[in-house]
Amino acid sequence: MDLRIIRPDDAEATRKIYNIEVMTSTATFDLRPRGQAEHERWVEAHLGAHPAVVAVEGTVVTGFAAISPYRARPAYATTVEDSVYVAAGWRGRGLGAVLLADVLRRATEHGFHTVMARVEATNAASVHIHERCGFDVVGTERQIGRKFGRWLDVTVLQKLL
Ligand SMILES: CC(C)(COP(=O)(O)OP(=O)(O)OC[C@H]1O[C@@H](n2cnc3c(N)ncnc32)[C@H](O)[C@@H]1OP(=O)(O)O)[C@@H](O)C(=O)NCCC(=O)NCCS
Repeated sequence: MDLRIIRPDDAEATRKIYNIEVMTSTATFDLRPRGQAEHERWVEAHLGAHPAVVAVEGTVVTGFAAISPYRARPAYATTVEDSVYVAAGWRGRGLGAVLLADVLRRATEHGFHTVMARVEATNAASVHIHERCGFDVVGTERQIGRKFGRWLDVTVLQKLL
């Protein structure tokens, strides 16, 4: 398994992994699949200061992780938010934790100070890998989302780099 910075030609593979979660899970609060052009813009935004990394097995993209700006207001510029997605058939083998650790190392190299993670509260695997990577739970946002006809809580985690 190799990790490398995302490339524009990884757009379709990562879009497919992401959109399965949009349609079938509460891992993301998006409610409709990301379009091709929209996701290409997302990839482009993660080629530089806010990087995304992909895990590849041969030519197959098996997962990705990214850091994104946390808030638009300028005093938040040293804070980022992470995301991590592993294709369903590749979970439970340590890949999510490896991807998260890699993107955190890059966040440190890029000079960011704080990483936030906002995880739907029942997503125990995601909370677990964040805690393993040194995040602390700093709060719960109750019934802040709604998807598939139910209220969703968000567990907020933070790591100081
Ligand atoms: C969350 C996700 C990235 C984890 O990826 P993964 O490759 O399965 O993660 P890993 O194999 O590195 O680690 C999973 C850990 O969670 C633990 N885990 C799995 N299910 C769990 C559960 N129900 N309760 C507690 N821990 C659980 C595993 O035991 C493992 O921990 P360990 O290595 O200490 O034993 C993956 O499940 C995924 O892509 N889910 C859908 C998208 C998503 O939820 N992304 C996060 C959005 S915030």
